[in-house]
Amino acid sequence: MKTIIEPFRIKSVEPIRMTTLEEREQCLKEAYYNLFALHSDDVLIDLLTDSGTSSMSARQWSALMEGDESYAGSPSFYRFKAAVNKLMPFKYLIPAHQGRAAESILFTVVADATHSIPNNTHFDTTRANVEAQGAEAADLVIEEGRHPELEHPFKGNMDIQALDQFIRDRGPENIPLCMLTVTNNSGGGQPVSMENIRQTREVCDRFGIPLFIDACRFAENAWFIKLREPGYQDRPVIEIVREMFSYADGCTMSAKKDGLANIGGWLAMNNEDWAVECRNRLILTEGFSTYGGLAGRDLEAIAVGLEEVVQEDYLRYRIASTQYVARHIAAVGVPIMKPAGGHAVYIDARKLLPHIPPLQYPGQSLAVELYKQGGIRGCEIGTAMFGLRPDGKEEPAHMDLVRLAIPRRMYTQSQMDYVVEVVQEVYEKREQLRGMRFIRQPPALRHFTGRFDYVQGA
Ligand SMILES: Cc1ncc(COP(=O)(O)O)c(C=O)c1O
Repeated sequence: MKTIIEPFRIKSVEPIRMTTLEEREQCLKEAYYNLFALHSDDVLIDLLTDSGTSSMSARQWSALMEGDESYAGSPSFYRFKAAVNKLMPFKYLIPAHQGRAAESILFTVVADATHSIPNNTHFDTTRANVEAQGAEAADLVIEEGRHPELEHPFKGNMDIQALDQFIRDRGPENIPLCMLTVTNNSGGGQPVSMENIRQTREVCDRFGIPLFIDACRFAENAWFIKLREPGYQDRPVIEIVREMFSYADGCTMSAKKDGLANIGGWLAMNNEDWAVECRNRLILTEGFSTYGGLAGRDLEAIAVGLEEVVQEDYLRYRIASTQYVARHIAAVGVPIMKPAGGHAVYIDARKLLPHIPPLQYPGQSLAVELYKQGGIRGCEIGTAMFGLRPDGKEEPAHMDLVRLAIPRRMYTQSQMDYVVEVVQEVYEKREQLRGMRFIRQPPALRHFTGRFDYVQGA
């Protein structure tokens, strides 16, 4: 059969509240054109993020009842640990309430103001946590990864030569670890090949630098390896996952993505000294080392989620459904990042709106319009998110994208057809879209709480 169907049926439904154009215009004004400030029941199709928005399975809901809420030594922690170790066999496992908590603990322990951290592309919270220590966060993705229109099977790959040069320039003693983000969220949800993970490891070994994987979308990355990398077609996903992590010394993880859970994360590593310090930090900021800011029931849901996320029927449907949306949006003529990533479709707003300069946030303007016209909430990934440097100066980001992130197991194909129709409508009136400006912004992560307005006279 050619049609790849959702490998589940729906058992419980949640109504969507329909809104009018006038209501949405009012909501936008009240939110100061920041889509993070909208009430989510004013959103028809919420593609803000794939994080924490997965529909849990019946098995996960029933696992919640197994949750043991003991402060220390809960069996839920040991079930969680067994599920993680089946995929990522690191010696020390430190649960945390979400990915950024794991990042914060890690960088507080390993980084200081003399340090630099290379990554293919830091996700925004990863960058913020590195920079919060005064350290430098460097993005060294391959050149193809910086050009939305270029096709490449593994656009998330690290530029191996640039990494080697970077380490020589900064000095290996100033680089406590190297990171690799799979898939590369800020660079378009693009996968990293096994060969590139191996080569990154070789460079790290040459200089004695540990390699950590930002593992948020490890299963989607493994599926791309199976689909696209010679030699992996007949390998079970679970083996591919294990091989990916065999090249690493540790990982940070948000279980809100490929944990198929609504909350949770962890930090894992082989270095005992770091693990001891990280656990001490965990106890100070998150909770005891067998729950790390989570309830026992959350650990149970993650343990089951990790079994489900590596099932091949699920991954086949997941990647095919993202590609379906991408294909139909591209067919209308809308420039998108190619090829489609795993969890999201990224519209190239800079190319779509050439009359809006990057410092007037074409991505924000497009995201606002998609909400206004059709109640769809996407997310700007561009100059509004990344353009503010720690020294207060502003410069255009590498790209101005709007990410339509697809929650796991949540929306149907007809809802995605509606999304395509709204994108088409906005595309047809693209010349009328106007630039935006910040009227208030915090010094870091400004896209979350900043306030926007249209540029006057634009
Ligand atoms: C690649 C990547 N790293 C880290 C994080 C942070 O995870 P969390 O939102 O659970 O704090 C995210 C979240 O979207 C992500 O995509």
